[in-house]
Amino acid sequence: MESSCDETAAAVVRDGREVVSSIVASQIDLHAVHGGVVPELAARAHLEVIGTVVEEALAPLPGGWDAVDAVAVTRGPGLVGCLLIGVLYAQTAAVARRVPIVGVSHMAGHVYSAWLSDSALEPPYLALVVSGGHSDVVELRAHGDAVRLASTRDDAAGEAFDKAARLLGLGYPGGPAVERAARGGDRDRFPMPRTRLDSALSFSGLKTALRYTIRDLGADALTAAGTPRDPAVVSDLAASFQAAVIQQLLHVLTTTADRRDAGRIAVVGGVAANQALREAVQRQFAGLRVTVPPLSLCTDNAAMIGAAGWHRLRAHGPDVDGVVVDPVLDEYA
Ligand code: KG4
Ligand code: ZN
Repeated sequence: MESSCDETAAAVVRDGREVVSSIVASQIDLHAVHGGVVPELAARAHLEVIGTVVEEALAPLPGGWDAVDAVAVTRGPGLVGCLLIGVLYAQTAAVARRVPIVGVSHMAGHVYSAWLSDSALEPPYLALVVSGGHSDVVELRAHGDAVRLASTRDDAAGEAFDKAARLLGLGYPGGPAVERAARGGDRDRFPMPRTRLDSALSFSGLKTALRYTIRDLGADALTAAGTPRDPAVVSDLAASFQAAVIQQLLHVLTTTADRRDAGRIAVVGGVAANQALREAVQRQFAGLRVTVPPLSLCTDNAAMIGAAGWHRLRAHGPDVDGVVVDPVLDEYA
């Protein structure tokens, strides 16, 4: 089960790797009018649907709950009210059904989404984890043993996309909107800075550059809300911004891969749904094994939590004293 942000998800995963079912109830419509996720609304919405989502996930499993051997649930990082709904539901079910439970890091789930989607992929592999809250390069050295090799110093890549979308008047969620706007745009029209740090990322300078570039278009070119009027300008700005983000991600992934002499690369997390990024990584690492999960496994889902939970259970056993929610959990296990 997964409820860390604005998706309520449940999945049945057999032996860690075979996805029997994966149900995701998105709250996009609920939050779109507010331009971002409203934590309290998100928590209430999780509470309303989690029972149905779990039932739906169990429906294709012969025997239903009776066939469940263990429960895995996201315990962090995420919004505390949202995490609590998933963890309390999972904990209650585990006690009632007398099955072991294991709390899982949402980030470990993202790393395992690659393993789940590629049956030939085994550790060690390098994962670029790019989501709304994280931008890390992580090495899964062995199952249950992940180490972070690079990270962002400020914003996450997804967060940068979301903020760029706001500046461009493209709404929420920002990533897909910027990607759509960027299609056919001229990425060389508005030069954007690239922050080049070998083991770190930074997007704040890029965000500021976008803001000033828009301001410098002049009042006549802007709407009352301060966003560019001309769709062609929006498209060119989106393309320039997206190209800069992708180049920075490629840079840090390449330097880390060289340093670690990596043979297998994965790109995971919501931003991995970005087609331009997917293609750029495939091109850049043409000689290596590159895994980019299908879109349904890139954005938040519970199947990846099932996979990560399966390994955690094998490596560390169940959480016999109960699962503790940690909104700022900073681990990949
Ligand atoms: O992994 P995820 O679903 O949730 C978190 O764990 O944060 O990632 C959500 C993030 C959002 O910031 C969203 O704008 C971004 O992923 N995203 C994208 C695309 N689809 C989602 N960013 C760029 N291009 C996309 N196509
Ligand atoms: Zn996520």
